[in-house]
Parts: sequence; C-alpha cells; structure tokens
Amino acid sequence: MLTAPMIDSRHFRDVMGHLPTAVVAITGLEAGTGRPAGLVVGTFQSLSLDPPLVTFSVARSSSSWPKLRPSSRFSASVLAAGQHDICRALSTKHGDKFAAVDWRYSDHGTPHIRHAHAWIDCEVTHEVEGGDHVIVIAGVARLTPGAGAPLLFHRGQLHGLF
Ligand SMILES: Cc1cc2nc3c(=O)[nH]c(=O)nc-3n(C[C@H](O)[C@H](O)[C@H](O)COP(=O)(O)O)c2cc1C
Repeated sequence: MLTAPMIDSRHFRDVMGHLPTAVVAITGLEAGTGRPAGLVVGTFQSLSLDPPLVTFSVARSSSSWPKLRPSSRFSASVLAAGQHDICRALSTKHGDKFAAVDWRYSDHGTPHIRHAHAWIDCEVTHEVEGGDHVIVIAGVARLTPGAGAPLLFHRGQLHGLF
C-alpha cells in the first residue's frame, strides 16, 4: 500500500492548476422545493462511449450536491467564453446562486444555462469514494451542442479559448 507523502494542499492546487479544464455547471432541481440548484466543476469528463457515461467529482463539503442527488437527474452546461459571471454565481456558497443566472427548463426537466457551449443531460448511476471528493458516474440521456467557444480555467484564472 502506498504511503501518502506529505504534500501541501496549496502546492497540490498550484501545480494541478497548470492542467487547463473546461468549466461546467452541474444543475438540477432541489427535491421538495423544485428550486434550481447547482455548482460549477472543473472535473467533468467523458468516461465511456458504450454505454455513454460521463464523470465528475464533487467535494464531500458541497451543499448543492445533496440537494440535486435525490432526483438522480442533472444537466451539465459547458460554459461558454464570456460566462465568467455565471461561473462566479454558481461557485459561490452563499445567497441565491440563480438570481442573476439566465436558465430555462430542458426536456430532461432540469435547468439548462442559456447560451452555454454545450448541454449534456444525465442520470446518476454510481458514486465512488475519492478521498475528500465523491466521483459521480452518470449515464447520458441527451447531448446538445451550442455555439461559440468554451470557457477555460487555468492557473486560477478564467479564459475564453478564442
Ligand atoms: C473553475 C472551478 C472549478 C471547480 N471545480 C470543482 C469540482 O470539480 N468539484 C467540486 O466539488 N467543486 C468545484 N469547484 C468549487 C465549487 O464550484 C464551489 O465550491 C461550489 O459553490 C460548491 O459549493 P456548494 O456545493 O456548497 O454550493 C470549482 C470552482 C471553480 C470556480
């Protein structure tokens, strides 16, 4: 068994921040209230083609994921270049995250962020332990491409690709 070396969490974040990621809004409806809930992740990935699966990881400390999780359904909106404000709104822990976010109901019954770069409608199949995060694995129900360019996160900053 590998003995975990002492790695400072700031250093871990700094070096891993050199890996550019897409910025994806995970959104669904809160069980009970039906209100939109969601968070931004940089860990959204394609996992399997057959069957079509995607994955992302969510911190155990997340307050939004437990609101979405009971329905099993969520949508991933791949944020577009210029959607910095939406990224900030959905990555804050306080207040009404959706107050200034332009969204609509999708055919999946989940919120889609308007003018995103792509939308992927999903249903959770597995959750796997991953240290202080949970690795979520989900089946894909529908995929919709959008226009423009994606928003990227690199070394602690947001950038439009083009
Ligand atoms: C670019 C970016 C990427 C992020 N990636 C993740 C991620 O992969 N997993 C995660 O749990 N939080 C991630 N976060 C942090 C969450 O968006 C933020 O903590 C969120 O508000 C969660 O809080 P809540 O679930 O309590 O609302 C990321 C934030 C930003 C700005």
